[in-house]
Amino acid sequence: MPPTEKHFVTSRNRVGQDYVELHRWIDDPVNKNERHDFTRIWEFGPTIRDRFGEEGVSEYIEHLREDMENKFAKLLGEPSAELLQALRYFGIRPNRAPEIKESDLNLLRRAGMAAADIAHSLKVAEKALELAKRTKQPLDLELVARGALFHDLGKARTHAMEHGMIGAEMGRELGLPPEITAIMEKHIRGGLSSQEAAELGLPIKDYTLHRLEERIVIYADRLTDIITEGLVALASEAEAEQRFEEILRDMVKYGKNRPTTERYFNYHREIQGLMAL
Ligand SMILES: [Fe+2]
Ligand SMILES: [Fe+2]
Repeated sequence: MPPTEKHFVTSRNRVGQDYVELHRWIDDPVNKNERHDFTRIWEFGPTIRDRFGEEGVSEYIEHLREDMENKFAKLLGEPSAELLQALRYFGIRPNRAPEIKESDLNLLRRAGMAAADIAHSLKVAEKALELAKRTKQPLDLELVARGALFHDLGKARTHAMEHGMIGAEMGRELGLPPEITAIMEKHIRGGLSSQEAAELGLPIKDYTLHRLEERIVIYADRLTDIITEGLVALASEAEAEQRFEEILRDMVKYGKNRPTTERYFNYHREIQGLMAL
C-alpha cells in the first residue's frame, strides 16, 4: 500500500475517518519536506484546524509520528534499549510490537479513558511484552498485550478500587474475551484472596492469578508505576527490577500491605527466575 494510503487506514482506525485530503496535503510531492518539519507545526496548524478541525491537527501530528516511526524502524534495525527509551521520550515507538493494535488503543479512547491512563496502559503493554519475551516461555503474547492494554479500562469511570470490577463489566459489553476481562477484574492489588476481597467490600471471590500471562501483566503494571511516576530515582528501567523488593518494602504506595507485597514478591521472583534461565 502506498505510504499516503496507509495514513488513511491509521486515521480511520484511530478516529473513524480517513482524512484523505489532509494526508494528501501533507504528502504533496512539492511541499512534503516543509510539511513534515515538526518545527513548522505551529505555522500550518491554524490552517489545518480551520479546514479539518482540532481532530485534523491531531491527525497531522499522528501522521508525522507514524512517518518517524517507520523511518527509524527501517534505519535502526535492532535499536539499543537506551535509543528506544530516548525515542519513546518523544512519543516515537519504532518497531511497535504487532500485538499492540491501534484498534485496541482506539477502544480505550472511545471508552473515554484519559490520555495519561492510556499512556500508562500502553507502557504496561510494552513492558509486559518485553518481560514475556525475556522469559522465553511459550506464552500467549496477544493475551499479554491485550490484558495489559485493557487492565485499567475501568478508570474511564473511576480511579477507585472498583475500577477492576467496573472495567471487566465494560470489557464484557465490548465483547472482550473472558481471559482478558479476568485480568481486568483480578489486577487490583495483584490478585486478592476472597477474604481480602470481602474486607475491601469487593464481590467475594477468588482473584488468584492462575496464568503466567496474568502474573506478567500485573508485575509489569507495578514496574511501570515505579518507572514512570518519578518517585524513585532510577538510572534505568532495569534498576526498577533490581531494586523491586526494596522499593516495595520501603514505599507503601507500591507495596500496599503485607499480603499484597508478598504476592508481588512471588511474581517478581518467579518471572525473574524464568528470565535468568
Ligand atoms: Fe489498575
Ligand atoms: Fe495500571
